Amino acid sequence: MNLIFLGPPGAGKGTQAEMFAAARGLKQLSTGEMLRAAVKAGTEVGKRADAVMKTGGLVSDDIVIGIIADRIDEPDCQGGFILDGFPRTLAQASALDRLLDEKGKTLDAVVEIRVDDAALIERISGRYSCAKCGAGYHDLHKQPKTEGVCDQCGATEFTRRADDNAETVKKRLLAYYRETAPLIGYYYAKDHLKSVDGMAAIDDVARQIDQALS
Ligand code: AP5
Repeated sequence: MNLIFLGPPGAGKGTQAEMFAAARGLKQLSTGEMLRAAVKAGTEVGKRADAVMKTGGLVSDDIVIGIIADRIDEPDCQGGFILDGFPRTLAQASALDRLLDEKGKTLDAVVEIRVDDAALIERISGRYSCAKCGAGYHDLHKQPKTEGVCDQCGATEFTRRADDNAETVKKRLLAYYRETAPLIGYYYAKDHLKSVDGMAAIDDVARQIDQALS
């Protein structure tokens, strides 16, 4: 099963993709995570992406299309994948159509997670993750079972993203409405779109996604 999880920053794409991928044996592919890893490693791609990400803009189509084109050929994607944060522009969506065609793969569905702007800002400002394994948490909605200890790896160091501040979040939202929201119509017209209410609690959203894809 090959899927796209679509939605504005903070909608819960990463949270839901991680849960669904684990339950169904799929590979979660987050372009945001891949770009942050490239920035950390100081690669050429990372250097080009860093300044853009800090301002809340979108990294150029050629960079992210190249990353995904290589990644979906890897053995761990052959059992199916979830694209989390890609495509984000109509140009990326057309490139993905061409890529999947060339590789003899199909897209099974696009899950759109709908959330109000005010909730997005609250979610993003409370978000943090394990510095060792990257497991995601939230100050109010998703705390580790034992305070200060990662549920998944037991580490005690946590980190917050550089672009999770009020000013950058506004720019990320604008980029979403300008560049990414048109994809909702694009995938609706292809009969791929499944929309879920992302304002519900995390487990409820997961149930909606399960039902939409069953
Ligand atoms: P990326 O990393 O993709 O960030 P994003 O799209 O802004 O999305 P987020 O990761 O912020 O949110 P999410 O929807 O995954 O929410 P999450 O599950 O974490 O991209 C970062 C940057 O990289 C971009 O700005 C751009 O510069 C660049 N980039 C990436 N891909 C690109 C592309 N294809 N083209 C060009 N540039 C690209 O949840 C958020 C918080 O809310 C968490 O704390 C979570 O615990 C909590 N939460 C989740 N669900 C719920 C719920 N139902 N109720 C309450 N809390 C919840």
